[in-house]
Amino acid sequence: MRVLLVGSGGREHALAWSLDASPMVDALYAAPGNPGIAQHATCVAIPAADVEALAAWSAANAIDLVVVGPEAPLALGLVDALAARGIKAFGPTQAAARLETSKAFAKAFCTRHGIPTADFAVFAEATPAHAYVDAKGAPIVIKADGLAAGKGVVVAMTDADAHAAIDSAFAGAFGAAGETLVVEEFLEGEEASLFALSDGTHALEIGTAQDHKRLLDGDHGPNTGGMGAYSPAPQLTDALKAQVMDEIVRPTLAGMAAEGTPFQGFLYCGLMLTDAGPKLIEYNVRFGDPEAQVVLPRLMTDLGQLLLGAVDGVLARMDLRWYPEACLGVVLANAGYPEQPRTGDAIEGLVAFADADDVLVFHAGTQADGERIAASGGRVLCVAGRGVDLRAAHTRAYGAVERITWPSRIYRSDIGSRALR
Ligand code: AMP
Ligand code: GLY
Repeated sequence: MRVLLVGSGGREHALAWSLDASPMVDALYAAPGNPGIAQHATCVAIPAADVEALAAWSAANAIDLVVVGPEAPLALGLVDALAARGIKAFGPTQAAARLETSKAFAKAFCTRHGIPTADFAVFAEATPAHAYVDAKGAPIVIKADGLAAGKGVVVAMTDADAHAAIDSAFAGAFGAAGETLVVEEFLEGEEASLFALSDGTHALEIGTAQDHKRLLDGDHGPNTGGMGAYSPAPQLTDALKAQVMDEIVRPTLAGMAAEGTPFQGFLYCGLMLTDAGPKLIEYNVRFGDPEAQVVLPRLMTDLGQLLLGAVDGVLARMDLRWYPEACLGVVLANAGYPEQPRTGDAIEGLVAFADADDVLVFHAGTQADGERIAASGGRVLCVAGRGVDLRAAHTRAYGAVERITWPSRIYRSDIGSRALR
């Protein structure tokens, strides 16, 4: 089949790498792609958010399946636009994507379907939000309703911080995303993520991972898109995974189907493992980045087969197999990320890993200029190591990190350290 992959980050490089290995995929295109993705796909210069151009190009180029990586085109209705032209697309419709695009929708949906999550209230004005904080007290969590690139959440440890977050949101700190706020109970426990692959009715668990959202070692500094991850997440035991599938994933799919907006695609469940059991922190309607870069290298089953199976609604007849290895990925970013990354340095040391099997270098923010690859984004690369266990994967990944350098490179040195302790 002829496949178009939409997106240009590390997640999409991992998807391209995995789809390139699929015997079902005869031709792979990526829009817009990046220099790493270009090793596996023909890149087409259409931005990921240009829904009309993507749909028209897919029709003109006899694309059999479009795989949507990031949330922005899903939020804009790319899957609906493709369906209108009779083109199969992997990923949720605009209506189903509300699980990620509106936290107020997602929380109310959890209430309607008995899905365990933090207690909450939704506010469109500051005064009642302040009163709610006064009644509940800190610690408490303030969230912008809409997509805010990972920046719309304030975990307030004091009442004063909570009140300040409410005022700044209603003053426009999160733009339109913050015109409605969710104020919710602070959950305590370990965080982990579980990914499900859904065809609208049936779901397969497609891996677990732990992300590292803060910029600096020890979970300090600002929130980012994610500075590293590892898979599997050892905290999610088989019993806990089964509980998450039963109490969160299956009720979510049943609820979405019952409401007339069946969910097809990757369902990312961000979880807090509390004393009272796993609770949903958030849904995302696509794979995680950098989680995809550490989950997909562990997947033995053909990804092309799985994604088409999800679109065709036949996942009940499929199953997944995994390599026994662990995978750990370290994000190399540019100094100044996430606010004002410094860009343009040439990256040294990539060639040494071009054919490595135990180290995979996924590109996110890179630019090719002849032979030279420049560090052009905030997050630049994700260096993933595979090993018999997490420790071996860690050694491989950090061994490679020492050899892939440029002047303004920054990274966390403690990815996986909590699990290794
Ligand atoms: P989110 O974008 O909703 O995943 O939130 C970003 C981060 O904020 C999460 O990864 C958690 O570390 C933290 N967080 C979000 N909601 C809560 C909560 N209810 N209790 C404690 N921490 C939270
Ligand atoms: N790594 C978190 C995310 O993809 O949203």
